[in-house]
Amino acid sequence: MFIIQKNELEKDQTLVIGLYKGKTRNEVSNKADHPWGEALEAYIKSGDVSYQYKNLSKILYPSEDRLTRLYFIGLGVSEEVTRNAYRKAIGYAFKSMLKEGHEEISLDFDSLCPASLSLEECAEIIGETVFTSTYRLPSFKTDEQEPKSIKKVNLVYEGDERVLSDALKKGYALAEGVNTARRLVHLPANILTPTELAEFARTLAEDHEFEIDVLDKEDMEKLGMGALLAVNQGSVEPPKMIVLRYQGLDNWEDVTAFVGKGITYDTGGYSIKTKTGMPGMKGDMGGAAAVLGAMDTIGRLKPKKNVLAVIPSSDNMISGEAFKPDDVISSMSGKTIEVLNTDAEGRLALADGVTYAKSEKAERIFDVATLTGGVVTALGSWMTGAMTNDQILFAELQSIAEDMGEPIWQLPYNDDYKAQVRKSEIADLNNSPTRKAHAIMGGAFVGAFVEDTPWVHLDIAGTSIAESSHDLGPKGPTGVMAKTLAGYVLK
Ligand code: BES
Ligand code: MN
Ligand code: ZN
Repeated sequence: MFIIQKNELEKDQTLVIGLYKGKTRNEVSNKADHPWGEALEAYIKSGDVSYQYKNLSKILYPSEDRLTRLYFIGLGVSEEVTRNAYRKAIGYAFKSMLKEGHEEISLDFDSLCPASLSLEECAEIIGETVFTSTYRLPSFKTDEQEPKSIKKVNLVYEGDERVLSDALKKGYALAEGVNTARRLVHLPANILTPTELAEFARTLAEDHEFEIDVLDKEDMEKLGMGALLAVNQGSVEPPKMIVLRYQGLDNWEDVTAFVGKGITYDTGGYSIKTKTGMPGMKGDMGGAAAVLGAMDTIGRLKPKKNVLAVIPSSDNMISGEAFKPDDVISSMSGKTIEVLNTDAEGRLALADGVTYAKSEKAERIFDVATLTGGVVTALGSWMTGAMTNDQILFAELQSIAEDMGEPIWQLPYNDDYKAQVRKSEIADLNNSPTRKAHAIMGGAFVGAFVEDTPWVHLDIAGTSIAESSHDLGPKGPTGVMAKTLAGYVLK
C-alpha cells in the first residue's frame, strides 16, 4: 500500500511535489541535486506551475533513461495551511491524478508537508485522503468495468521512516472506516435490510475480534423495546438491535457508546413522506453506517479503550399492522410515548438504543442519526448539528471533529426545549411536539432517555450525503462522523 523510499526515483514514476509560498520545512525539493530540482525554478518562472492554492499542473520531465511525470500542487502560504485546506488540496490532486489514469503515485513527502503541520499530521492526512478522495461507490450496472483505484503510494522521504509509518497506518484505517460507511449508505434498502446490516456487523466482528450480539424481535419483546418495535410494526423485515463490544482495557469500564440510527428505509409510515421526499431514504441508516465505519477503524488500530456500538435497525413501512399517529407505546426505559407522527421514527429507535447502551454500562454516549429535515434547513450540508448535556465532552468532540474536517455546530438544549417533548395528555413524552425547532426536538427526545449520562447528539441529515462530487470523495454518501467517532476513541 504505502512504500517509503529514499531519494532514488524509479523509471516512469509519477511524482507529486507540493509548492507553497514562504518557508519550506526542508528545502530539499528546491535543490539542484534533485533530478527535477534544477528545472523547478524555471518552471515557476515560466508561470506554468504555481504556489497558488489548489493549482495543479503537470510537467513531463525527461532525463536519460527515464521519463518522470511531475505533478505540482499549490498549497498556498506554507505557515498558514490548515489541516482542512491541506486535506482538500491533496484530495483534489489525488483525485485528478487517478482521473488521468495513474494508479501508482509517488509523493515527494518533504515538499508536500507545509511548515504549519507536523510530519505526522501530514502523513496521517495523506494516508487518509489518498483513499477517501479517490473512492468509487460500487454499482449495479451490468456493463461497469472495475473502477480505477490508487493501488500503490511511494513516499519519497529521506528521514526516519518510523515517524511516518504509524501515521500513514492511522490515516489508512480512518479512510477505510469512511469508505465502509459510504458503501453501506449507498446500498438500496431491498438489499441492505436490517438482517443484512446485522450480517455485515458480524463480518466486521469476525475481522476485528469484536464481541457481537444481534437482538431479534423476541429478545426485544422480552426487554420491552416497544419504541423500536413500534417502528417495525408495519414491516415484513424483522428488526435487529445490533450490539458490538470492543474491549481494549482489562475490565469493561469507562465505556464509550456509539448509538447509530439504523433505519434502512423511511417511508414516513402513515405520516407518509411525499413522492419527492421519499427517494434517498435508503440513506436513513447513515448513523449506523458511521458507527460501523468508526468500529472498522478502531478494529484496525486496537486502542486501549472500551467501545460499545448499538444500532437499532428497522425500516419504517406501512401496512395494516403499522403503528399510527395517536398510538401510545412503551419504551425499554419504561417511559411511555404518545406517537404524534410516525415519520419521527428515528428518535423512537434511538430511545431504545440509548437505554440499551446505558444498561451495558455506557459512561458516555454519542448518538448519530439522519434525524431531521430541520437540521438541513438550519445548517445545510456544511455542518453537523449537535446537542449535549455536557459542555466538556462536547468541546473535546468538537475539536476532533474540526481536525477531521467534519465540523459540528451546537444547538441549544435548555429547560424550555426539554419541556416540549414532555407535553402529552396521555403519556410521558410525545415524539413530535410542534412545527417549531424540529432539529432540537429530535435531539431533546433522545436526551430524555439519555438522562444524566454525558452525551453528544449528532444530527447528520444534512451532512451524510454530498449533492455533487467534491475534493474528498464522490457524489453521494460522505461517511461523515466515522472519522470523528473513531478519532475520539483514538485520541
Ligand atoms: N429520516 C428523516 C430525516 C431526514 C430528512 C433525513 C431529510 C435525511 C434527509 C426523519 O425520520 C424524519 O422524517 N424527520 C422528520 C421529523 C418530523 C416528522 C418531526 C422531519 O425532519 O421532517
Ligand atoms: Mn422519518
Ligand atoms: Zn428517518
